[in-house]
Amino acid sequence: MRWSQLHKIAISLPLAVLAALALIAINESGYQRSHRALQTMAHNQAAHSSVNRLLQSMLDAETGHRGYLLTEDERYLQPYEVAVSTVNSNLDELRTLLAESPEDMADFAQLSRQISRKLSEMELSLQLYRQGNEDAWKFVMFSDVGKENMDAIRRYGRALLERNTQRVVSSQVEVQRSLHLSRLGIATVTAIGLLAFYMYLRQTNALQRATEREQEVLEHERARLEGLVRERTASLSALANHLQQVREDERGYLARELHDELGALLTAAKLDVARLKSRLDTQAPEVLERLRHLSETLNGVIALKRRIIEDLRPSSLSNLGLTAALEILTREFAERAGLEVQTNLETVELSDATQLTVYRMVQESLTNIGKYAHAHKVLVTVHNHPQHVAVQIRDDGQGFDLSGIGRTSHGLAGMRQRVEAAGGRLTVSSTPGEGTLVSAILPTPDSSGDTPRRRASDLTV
Ligand SMILES: Nc1ncnc2c1ncn2[C@@H]1O[C@H](COP(=O)(O)OP(=O)(O)OP(=O)(O)O)[C@@H](O)[C@H]1O
Ligand SMILES: [Mg+2]
Repeated sequence: MRWSQLHKIAISLPLAVLAALALIAINESGYQRSHRALQTMAHNQAAHSSVNRLLQSMLDAETGHRGYLLTEDERYLQPYEVAVSTVNSNLDELRTLLAESPEDMADFAQLSRQISRKLSEMELSLQLYRQGNEDAWKFVMFSDVGKENMDAIRRYGRALLERNTQRVVSSQVEVQRSLHLSRLGIATVTAIGLLAFYMYLRQTNALQRATEREQEVLEHERARLEGLVRERTASLSALANHLQQVREDERGYLARELHDELGALLTAAKLDVARLKSRLDTQAPEVLERLRHLSETLNGVIALKRRIIEDLRPSSLSNLGLTAALEILTREFAERAGLEVQTNLETVELSDATQLTVYRMVQESLTNIGKYAHAHKVLVTVHNHPQHVAVQIRDDGQGFDLSGIGRTSHGLAGMRQRVEAAGGRLTVSSTPGEGTLVSAILPTPDSSGDTPRRRASDLTV
């Protein structure tokens, strides 16, 4: 993943988180402002009601007072007395409510002074009335002082009411503003959130496309490397086949040279020895003994030469065929290694090159058994099947771990190389302590119409 893509992906997430935080902040601040404004409104409405109650009490008191004085009816006194008794508690309540505003407190002081004056005036006229001093209570009652008092009470009350109303209105405005702000903020933040989400989707898409492209490039590179490996393997395999062929040719050449040149020389030497022997004086037994020894040595060398030639190029194979050549090979091996070797060899139709492959495979397997297996019994089988020939060499030796084959070991690898070059398939199975089975299947020449390599892949065993 490129840095720029990571960088882009990294932007949308903080943006979304920021939008969410902003949303919470806007909401919280809107709530706080509205809450404060509502509290102020409630406070002012309480003050408003309190002022109204006070004015109403004063009005009731004045009406009751006048009614009583003018009609002498005691019933009028009751509203007066109720109103007078509540005025003080009303004033206390109002003082508490207005305490925070110096402006209101100034009006309240005036209002409260006017109220106490009015109450004193009503109280005085009532006393004079009860004392029967008619001129005096009438003077007090009908003088302008009482009216001025009431006017002043109304004025200060109204002033307080108006200020309260103003505050309620401005609180309402504040609530509306904060609602408006919240609405705007939520809309903006939602838009930012949607933008962040859109960016995130786009970036995720881009990232996915980039990953796919990278995947494609990797896939391409892998295919290229696989092609390269296949090519190299094919050329190495061709080279190995060539080397095998060259080796076989060399061995053939050496066998011929040994047979023709060395064989001729050794035969000549043997004839010379025989001639010398016949002409020698029989009185020289020591010389005769030497010549006899020389003749034996020459016989030994000739036998050795034959073995070497046979090993280099099995003449039994070309002269007697695969089955007989394998019989000889296994018999000689059994004698040499002192093992019990059983065979089950069917006559098979294979090309000369494939026959040599089978021969070399059995030869190398037997050599390995002799070197490593510590076996008691060996079984070599060659079976004909409709489309292929199966060759198996099984021993009951100590077996080995296939994964532990060293780099310097080439026998099994060479075997596989030969079998595959002949279009066949080789399998080696072995478990330590349980013996070894080397098995090959090779296509018969008449399962033809295709290359040997292709045919091998079609075979089922
Ligand atoms: N029949 C067997 N029983 C036990 N071990 C075996 C047998 N055949 C092969 N091995 C083990 O597998 C190894 C590889 O065998 P391979 O024929 O490939 O190489 P090599 O015999 O060690 O050397 P080279 O054949 O090149 O001279 C051997 O070293 C041996 O340890
Ligand atoms: Mg070997």
